[in-house]
Amino acid sequence: MPSFSRTFFALISLAALPLTWATVNGPVISANFPDPAILATSGGTYAFATNSGNINIQVATSPDDGVTWELQSGVDALPNVGSWATVNSTWAPDVIDRGDGTFVMYYAAWSTSQGTHCVAAATSTSPVGPYNPESQPIACQTPGGGAIDPAGFQDTNGTRYIVYKVDGSSLGGGGPCGNANGEYSTPIMLQEMETDGVTPTGEPVQILDRGQSDGPLIEAPALILHNGTYVLFFSSNCYNTDLYDISYATAPSISGPYTKASSPLLVTGDDGLTAPGGATPRLDGGFMVFHVTVNTNPLTRYMYTATLTWNGTIVSA
Ligand SMILES: *[C@@H]1O[C@H](CO)[C@@H](O)[C@H](O)[C@H]1NC(C)=O
Ligand SMILES: *[C@@H]1O[C@H](CO)[C@@H](O)[C@H](O)[C@H]1NC(C)=O
Ligand SMILES: *[C@@H]1O[C@H](CO)[C@@H](O)[C@H](O)[C@H]1NC(C)=O
Repeated sequence: MPSFSRTFFALISLAALPLTWATVNGPVISANFPDPAILATSGGTYAFATNSGNINIQVATSPDDGVTWELQSGVDALPNVGSWATVNSTWAPDVIDRGDGTFVMYYAAWSTSQGTHCVAAATSTSPVGPYNPESQPIACQTPGGGAIDPAGFQDTNGTRYIVYKVDGSSLGGGGPCGNANGEYSTPIMLQEMETDGVTPTGEPVQILDRGQSDGPLIEAPALILHNGTYVLFFSSNCYNTDLYDISYATAPSISGPYTKASSPLLVTGDDGLTAPGGATPRLDGGFMVFHVTVNTNPLTRYMYTATLTWNGTIVSA
């Protein structure tokens, strides 16, 4: 039974900082369901998560637009990870409705040939899958440490993109998740896609990177357009410490420049949460799914949701 709790975070409404409140609800999935993504279609509401046990991509459904959730236990939305990839290495999926009866899943998986994670796409005619992987990954960013945490976005003029993280913190450097001294960059990249949503076109461009206040990294990007402003959600610090958070940056155009919010949206202690992170907002910006650490050994992260308030206005679906 989800527990409803107080709103906790207020921010002065500067034009560059439109996100003013998050009202937290949860846990809504009391099982390990990290890095969740939300897909809200006219046919239903779905969530997807990182591998757990022998399931590559977990899926959950909501019969009531995100209020209650049912983990589809034993269902693997991505039973075939692609011939380039290895099982039990699939992280942080995102799913878009292409609008033509096809759904596109973006995911990261380990490539033995690259020695890094790569980001890739898979397609299905059903939101819950099974998704069929494209033959090759979209990006590997091997010298930079790999590519993870892909998420889709469609601009108002119809152009499709993905954002993802170059996984510099995987290159070493010590600390709980690498890069303790910040020697590697962990840029968020914007990659334009063909209308099929699975084929990259042109070169990726960097739209954000870690800074001193982010600790070793930023990751888990998710992009929406809200009221004329591009809003890029991300997490800072190590996922396996209490410093993990949910933050965001805003920009007047898709390629930037992005300005980070002066403080994160959610941190440990807010509403009694520990290490909130991996957030994905619904496309309309009114709602998001994210994970919260409930146990560190073994690391176990439950799904929570939050209703978001922008400039004092609650966006309803
Ligand atoms: C994947 O993980 C499951 C559960 O931990 C395990 O039973 C299985 O052997 C793993 N498969 C491979 C190929 O490592
Ligand atoms: C949409 O806008 C972007 C950026 O402004 C541009 O790069 C792209 O070519 C446009 N796409 C179309 C279909 O007009
Ligand atoms: C949309 O943007 C306008 C102009 O910046 C602002 O006045 C308004 O409050 C915003 N609305 C929402 C719902 O954020």
